[in-house]
Formats: sequence, structure tokens, C-alpha cells
Amino acid sequence: MNLDRPLVLATQNEGKIAEFRGLLAGFDVEIRSLKDYGPIPQVEEDGDTFEDNAVKKSRFTARVLGLPALADDSGLMVRALGGVPGVLSARYAAEDATDEANNLKLLKAMEGVEDRSAKFVCVLAISVPPGAALLYEGTCEGVIAHELTGTQGFGYDPLFYYPPLEKTFAQMSSEEKNRISHRGRAMAELKQEFDKVLIWLNQRLGVHP
Ligand code: IMP
Repeated sequence: MNLDRPLVLATQNEGKIAEFRGLLAGFDVEIRSLKDYGPIPQVEEDGDTFEDNAVKKSRFTARVLGLPALADDSGLMVRALGGVPGVLSARYAAEDATDEANNLKLLKAMEGVEDRSAKFVCVLAISVPPGAALLYEGTCEGVIAHELTGTQGFGYDPLFYYPPLEKTFAQMSSEEKNRISHRGRAMAELKQEFDKVLIWLNQRLGVHP
């Protein structure tokens, strides 16, 4: 089947672009990203949920470019903090917070807290210009450590301890992390369904293979 049209990744992040390209390499779809277009207006990530933000990003990009678009949104939810930092994960300590500042704020918030269970969540959304969207979700359950451990990865990785492998995300190789992470799981789900996604896109875009 030939989609005959591109799928635009709604991100400028080179790491994410490479991951998605690798994931969808075997499929008959032309992967592009925001890097292939000049500057386009930025969408504000002000939704209450990961779904809201992922749909907002993919829908906005699809409408602006007139092409189907794929976006993701992710973050950490700590049970004892009522799901915080959640959609504010990147901006937990401040608007332009560093990973270090976010981690220190989280450690402080967890001082003396017994229930340290937490989960990472990743939502992928694919939108077409008329507005319809498909959603895929992946989660990974773990525990907030008492100190930063490990040097790999980014964000909250040094504080996110994954009991089955007895290490934090920051102590894992990227291959190891991708196998079990929220993003890896959401991507695996998308990949498994991608044939159906192509049919869905063709129907919405009026392409008849
Ligand atoms: P975004 O979905 O790329 O906007 O990520 C939101 C924020 O969630 C990041 O800035 C990190 O703070 C956090 N986050 C999401 N995924 C991970 C991960 O795999 N490891 C560590 N932190 C993550």
C-alpha cells in the first residue's frame, strides 16, 4: 500500500526524530519533521492531560501544513503527590527549569514520604488536517529513589528506579530503556498497528490504494 503522502513528526527534537524514523523504517510512508519546513507558529502545551497536549500538537501541525502529523507528550506522575509533576514535568521547578532543578525539587517534595511509587506516561497522537486523531499510550511503573543515581538519559531518569531490573533509568543503556520505557511501549503499540493506521489515514485523506 502506498500512502502517497508524507507523515510529519510534530517535533524539532533530533533524538525523537531519529527514534520515530527507526521505528517506522519498514513502512511505506515518507517521514518528515518540522525541520523540513521553515519556522511555523508554536503551539502552547497547556492541556490538562498528556492526551490533550499530544492531540493539540499533532492537530495544530496537521492543520498548519495540511498534512497528517504525529506528536508525542510524556511526563512523570508521582502517586503520593497526586500525579504531580504530570503535564508540567519539563517545567516543574520553573518555566525554563533544568533537569537538575526539577530533580532537586522532586527529591525535596518526597522527603519523608513513604509511598514512592510513580509512573512515566507517554501518549502518541496522529492527526489529519480535518481534525480526527488516533491515540496510543505507554506507561512504565517504578519508584522514586532517595538520591540521584546514574549518568545516562535525561530528565528524571536518575531518580526513576525500575525494580524489575534493579536500576534507575539513568543506569540503563538506551536499548535497555527503550524495551521497557513508556515511550518504547507506546511506540511498540503504534508499530504493531501501523498497517491499520495507514488505512485510516488513506480513508481520511481520500487516497485509494
Ligand atoms: P516531552 O514529552 O518531551 O515534552 O517531555 C516532558 C518532560 O517529561 C521531560 O522534559 C522530562 O522532564 C520528562 N520525561 C519524559 N520522558 C522522560 C524519560 O524517559 N525520562 C526522564 N524524564 C522524562
